[in-house]
Amino acid sequence: MTQGGIEAAIKAAAATVEESLEALLPKGEGPEKRVFEAMRYGTLNGGKRLRPFLVLTGADLFDVPREQSLRVAAATEFVHCYSLVHDDLPAMDDDDLRRGKPTTHIEYDEATAILAGDGLLTLAFEVLTEPATHRSGEVRADLALSMARAIGAHGMVGGQMFDLQAEKLDLDIGAVTRLQQMKTGALIAYASEAGAILGQASAEGRQALRMYAHDVGLAFQIADDLLDEEGAEEEVGKKVGKDAEAGKATFVSLLGVERARSQAEMLAEQAGKHLDLFGERADLLRLIARFVVERRT
Ligand code: IPE
Ligand code: IPE
Ligand code: MG
Ligand code: MG
Ligand code: MG
Repeated sequence: MTQGGIEAAIKAAAATVEESLEALLPKGEGPEKRVFEAMRYGTLNGGKRLRPFLVLTGADLFDVPREQSLRVAAATEFVHCYSLVHDDLPAMDDDDLRRGKPTTHIEYDEATAILAGDGLLTLAFEVLTEPATHRSGEVRADLALSMARAIGAHGMVGGQMFDLQAEKLDLDIGAVTRLQQMKTGALIAYASEAGAILGQASAEGRQALRMYAHDVGLAFQIADDLLDEEGAEEEVGKKVGKDAEAGKATFVSLLGVERARSQAEMLAEQAGKHLDLFGERADLLRLIARFVVERRT
């Protein structure tokens, strides 16, 4: 499969993911309707749906039925969308453009955006732990526990705190790596590993995916930093040049564009090697790793 092929495959999966997101999001009347609408707005507004694609592709390795993996894919995207809605708030990055559209607090208001994020986060755990996700309560508990660990104070939330402090700190490459690992890497790692949980894979299989995810997560964030430095707002769908403006230490500010790019390419290559035990069956995951660094959006 070519790079164009992988993009088409991500788009095709995204259309199915969209249906699941739509079906699982709340709908209804009454005074709370506004938060339902803001949750839908913050989710059904484009986005590459890369994390859902990782969940589905990882789950396919273990022949997990699609109706199960789609639920975990949706839950992972709900968490990602919650993190973006909150990340864009005035108290955080204060952004007004996301996925080419006004951010949720601009379209609604701040209080509604905070509640929409809370609603999405909570919905994710509801979806993960409902019996429809897996007949085994143990598997469902594992899905929820691993998610909680990935996105809590030792994971994504901690990474967001670290990121806000970063402007005031003089970070070296080790510190930036840790920051990005928490902020972005942890959820991508969850997305890559969730299929192995659903498929009740061997410890060895799960570990291989975890190592793959570690490298893909870092490569993904280096690409995000490169897009912030070199991307075009119309293409990326969000403001660019923000990291340099804020004086943030990133892979790009520390390594320079060229070295950051070769580091990302090296990580993508290495990510694929961790999947040797799956042979050709993991080729799609290897292509995703490459897509992550070559993407323009
Ligand atoms: C952007 O993530 C935010 C980061 C964690 C760096 P994506 O680049 O996956 O954003 P969408 O979902 O496609 O909008
Ligand atoms: C966002 O990181 C990470 C999370 C939401 C957890 P950024 O602040 O770098 O993402 P963008 O650049 O706004 O998409
Ligand atoms: Mg941020
Ligand atoms: Mg931001
Ligand atoms: Mg960024």
